[in-house]
Amino acid sequence: MKALILVGGYGTRLRPLTLTVPKPIVDFANKPMIIHQIEALKDAGCDEVVLAINYQPKVMMDFLKEWETKLAIKITCSQEKEPMGTAGPLALANEILNDGSGNPFFVLNSDVICEFPLKEMLAFHKKTGAEGTILVTQVEEPSKYGVVVTDEASKVERFVEKPKVFVGDKINAGIYCLSPAVLDRIEMRPTSIEKETFPLICRDGKLYAFTLPGYWMDVGQPKDYLTGLQLHLSSLRRSHPDQLASGPEYEGNVIVHPSAKIGKDCKIGPNVSIGIGCELENGVRVANSVLLHRVKVKDFARVSDSIIGWGSSVGKWARIDNKSVIGEDVHVKDEVFLNGTIVLPHKELKETVLEQGTIIM
Ligand code: GDD
Ligand code: MG
Repeated sequence: MKALILVGGYGTRLRPLTLTVPKPIVDFANKPMIIHQIEALKDAGCDEVVLAINYQPKVMMDFLKEWETKLAIKITCSQEKEPMGTAGPLALANEILNDGSGNPFFVLNSDVICEFPLKEMLAFHKKTGAEGTILVTQVEEPSKYGVVVTDEASKVERFVEKPKVFVGDKINAGIYCLSPAVLDRIEMRPTSIEKETFPLICRDGKLYAFTLPGYWMDVGQPKDYLTGLQLHLSSLRRSHPDQLASGPEYEGNVIVHPSAKIGKDCKIGPNVSIGIGCELENGVRVANSVLLHRVKVKDFARVSDSIIGWGSSVGKWARIDNKSVIGEDVHVKDEVFLNGTIVLPHKELKETVLEQGTIIM
């Protein structure tokens, strides 16, 4: 079986992290986002994953070489000369996806995280005889997504991308199982699967929805990324409690890479991930936050509700709070307080920033 992951886009909503690292390889729970997806695809029986890329393909492919061997799966790149939207890339990769076997294939948005029930979805797709099956989930704010309205048999009656008025609260989770016939509907031009392809399949009564059990999140922006981490960790608590940190210094759900060093009298959690090679000195407090790889946090500093980028450091008694996002290689000096501050990569910060939402260029 084949799969295609839509990797395009600049990931602007996840800046400043995506100023130095392409969105799909930003780590989520200590593993690049796209690797969570590729592992799930492999597990569901895929032997080849096509990455539809229109931005920084070399960085991505160099990075994924090592994973190709590690996961024993073929990873190929289908590069667009211009952004082809969410359906155009399927036309471009037609020959790989339509391999003559008649088998369906998976398509994934690269920024969604869930428990990936792909095998169950595939079985459902085969059972209904659908041309396309969309994974759906329920959310409180459906207007940010593609809304899916179904009948009792889960057949899609309407698909409305980013509706301005309320049509329903079941939304497209950004994961599809499609039969090769879908490819005949997609022209070789920039086009949207949500706005053009799905309404056509729906009109012909061949589009179905499979309801996602468990959590789901589009982690393409910092606030949702942190919420997604919280959901992911509580799912790990149920499925793989052994992967969570335990000990007197931990509270709630926390993951710590084995190579990280944690000092004395720290208090870490809930909802924290600590990446490869991080070093926390003594008395450090971290809650509802992400420390990407190689972050150093000095004595008695405190990080809450924030994301700290690769190789950055936080000085003694410093405090980073309130949805701050610190880019790669930023050094926050002792005693500085950042309140909901966005800091671009490669900076040194000596002064406190109190006004929430300030961007430090
Ligand atoms: N290759 C390629 N080329 N990929 C693209 C392009 C392009 O021109 N444009 C967007 N993508 C990729 C993005 O990188 C992302 O993985 C996916 O297509 C969806 O684009 P987003 O920009 O993240 O869309 P969204 O989050 O606003 O909405 C989509 O996802 C929602 C779920 O998170 C839609 O599919 C909604 O219907 C859905 O509910
Ligand atoms: Mg998205």
